[in-house]
Amino acid sequence: MRDFTSNISGFYKLSLKERRDQLTKFLDLEQEEVELLQNLGYFSPTQIDTLIENVIGSYQLPLGIALNFKINGKDYFLPMVIEEPSVVAAASNAAKIARKNGGFHSEEVRSIMISQIQITQLKDTTAVKEILKRNREEILKIANEQDPLLIKLGGGALDVEIRELETNKGKMVILHLLVDVLDAMGANVVNTMAEAVSPYIEEITGGKIYLRIVSNLATHRIARCKAIFDKEMLGGEEVVEGILNAYEFALADPYRATTHNKGIMNGIIALTLATGNDTRAIEAGAHAYASLSGKYKPLTKFESDSNGNLVGEIEIPLALGIVGGMTKIHPMARLALKILGVKSAGELSQIAAALGLAQNVAALRALAAEGIQRGHMILHSRNIAKSAGVPDELVEKVAKQLVQDGKIRVDHAKKILNKLVER
Ligand code: MEV
Repeated sequence: MRDFTSNISGFYKLSLKERRDQLTKFLDLEQEEVELLQNLGYFSPTQIDTLIENVIGSYQLPLGIALNFKINGKDYFLPMVIEEPSVVAAASNAAKIARKNGGFHSEEVRSIMISQIQITQLKDTTAVKEILKRNREEILKIANEQDPLLIKLGGGALDVEIRELETNKGKMVILHLLVDVLDAMGANVVNTMAEAVSPYIEEITGGKIYLRIVSNLATHRIARCKAIFDKEMLGGEEVVEGILNAYEFALADPYRATTHNKGIMNGIIALTLATGNDTRAIEAGAHAYASLSGKYKPLTKFESDSNGNLVGEIEIPLALGIVGGMTKIHPMARLALKILGVKSAGELSQIAAALGLAQNVAALRALAAEGIQRGHMILHSRNIAKSAGVPDELVEKVAKQLVQDGKIRVDHAKKILNKLVER
């Protein structure tokens, strides 16, 4: 039994310091640990305390830069926030290979989001669907009254989709409001619009509306990107053949497709996080899209061209914004967007798709060519050496020895260090 209760009323009302003091007392934290909590990095106490509730500190992750990306003829530095070694290096390598044939070609991505309105308790769903169709203009008009600035800038509600669902609670009609949210991720805009049109929809349909919320399956915001990866730079015909086999494996097997897509998301989520976007929305949308056919599939496709080069394509919903949410509040997200130099949300999605494709090719190449573990372990061994207290100037040496010995463990790192120091 721990001698405290986690049921603390009014914890959220306390100041940052008071919350820290309480935890320190309850958990008997060491001075060093308290200092860790006090270190807010580039955040001011007010800034961080207004982002979420019950804040006690700031959590840091490395920010890396992926190199060599040429997308639609333009060069970019790609900021990536991720804890996993090898990911940034792998993306940069694959991007270098793609450069030989002109880099990545991403299609334009329009920022069209779906907001869902759930209409229930309907007697005649066929009649309701007709009513909704007839009143389409009025619904769009009410939606567009909510955000005059968005309309002025060229965005706004564009259309509706009407769907019928059989459920355990009877038939429901689901209205999708399609909204061009321009440079935003868009959840707030479309949620406001959906709430605003709901009373009118209840009035004309006689139904009861429960949910009015964005769908994270952004099927009208699909990013498509293609690149040709040079056969020789990949490692030859055998490696291309290995990648094509890996692709067929993923296509045939959801167990493999999940890991295949995880590799893609290594890149996309790192960029999503760096730019202050909602990683959960992107992740949920990607996996739902992967299973839209009824079977979970890879988000990329591969074939070889007449020269034996690898042709890769990716197709993924990407609701990424460059305004709103955290993008402008978080100092590092703001800087990440500056590093990228993107002018629109669509451009950011084009870049993210290219990064996902590069990440996937790099992983498949490593798996097909040499096994992923080797590269991974070299980087991992450095972390192990550091955790074992190896001083910076000896980390490389100890890490190498760990890999050579095939024992990448802290105890072994300490042993190597002791031997080196004894000499
Ligand atoms: C590891 O983070 C990602 C991979 O497992 C992806 C894959 O297997 O394709 C290497």
